[in-house]
Amino acid sequence: MPRFAFYHLVNVLNRNRKRPCLLTLLIISLLTTIIIDIIFINSIQTFLYPFESLSCYRIENLNTFPDISQINPREGKTIFFHETSCKSHTEGKTILSSRQACAVESAAKSNPHFDVFVLFTSPGVFINNNTQSDRSIKALLTYPNIKFLHVNYNNYTEGTPVGNLYKSGKIETSYYAISHASDVLRYLTLWKYGGIYLDLDVIVMRSLEGLHSNYAGAESDDNVAAGVMNFASDGLGHFLAEECLLDLSEHFTGYDWGYNGPGVITR
Ligand SMILES: *[C@@H]1O[C@H](CO)[C@@H](O)[C@H](O)[C@H]1NC(C)=O
Ligand SMILES: *[C@@H]1O[C@H](CO)[C@@H](O)[C@H](O)[C@H]1NC(C)=O
Repeated sequence: MPRFAFYHLVNVLNRNRKRPCLLTLLIISLLTTIIIDIIFINSIQTFLYPFESLSCYRIENLNTFPDISQINPREGKTIFFHETSCKSHTEGKTILSSRQACAVESAAKSNPHFDVFVLFTSPGVFINNNTQSDRSIKALLTYPNIKFLHVNYNNYTEGTPVGNLYKSGKIETSYYAISHASDVLRYLTLWKYGGIYLDLDVIVMRSLEGLHSNYAGAESDDNVAAGVMNFASDGLGHFLAEECLLDLSEHFTGYDWGYNGPGVITR
């Protein structure tokens, strides 16, 4: 078959040695190269950044922490952490790394008059089998101001400026789905309740209780960090949170890691 194809090709070439034919061949080979390149680049990208599944967000599991919709966070006195991976579902129970547990504990310890909410988008319950993660969570649950809560992503975003963004599936098909789900959620939580958002790798060394509202951390000289943010629940703070959500709903970008987090607050 290949032999025949080659024979046929030579025949065609011999029969009409005209420019258009060569030009067509050139264009075909160019297109082939481009297509192969695109497939190659895509497969490298998929290899480096495999799609992170957020399918656990859709599980309606009664066996999980109380849903945030059942709680009224105290205005200006709440610190929020978000865990947006599906680990606590795939492992069959709630999982925190030591670093994450350390972040939560440091926030609770240095701000005893604030509530610290750890919001899980994945269903999961605490099962104590005495692993490192279990011991950490057990210790955290002894703090009166730490609460573990579940967030139903669909219900949480519904009727908000990012409701359609979630429904569009763009977050789930992002190359950085877990990070980007967290990017959207942090602005949404502060838009809903105001207060402090911290990344799960932020260690709080001093009390944040006396600070005025509406601040964000510095990522670098040119960029504002989205890992430490405080917005008031009304006035300027709420306005800024809403601007961030509107920016996200319009310009969400799945292939750029920093665009939807630090990018939004910097813009
Ligand atoms: C964890 O503990 C439960 C009972 O609390 C037990 O059924 C389960 O087998 C344990 N899992 C592991 C991995 O030890
Ligand atoms: C989410 O919303 C649906 C429909 O309103 C409701 O049936 C369900 O109980 C809600 N889930 C949670 C966890 O609030």
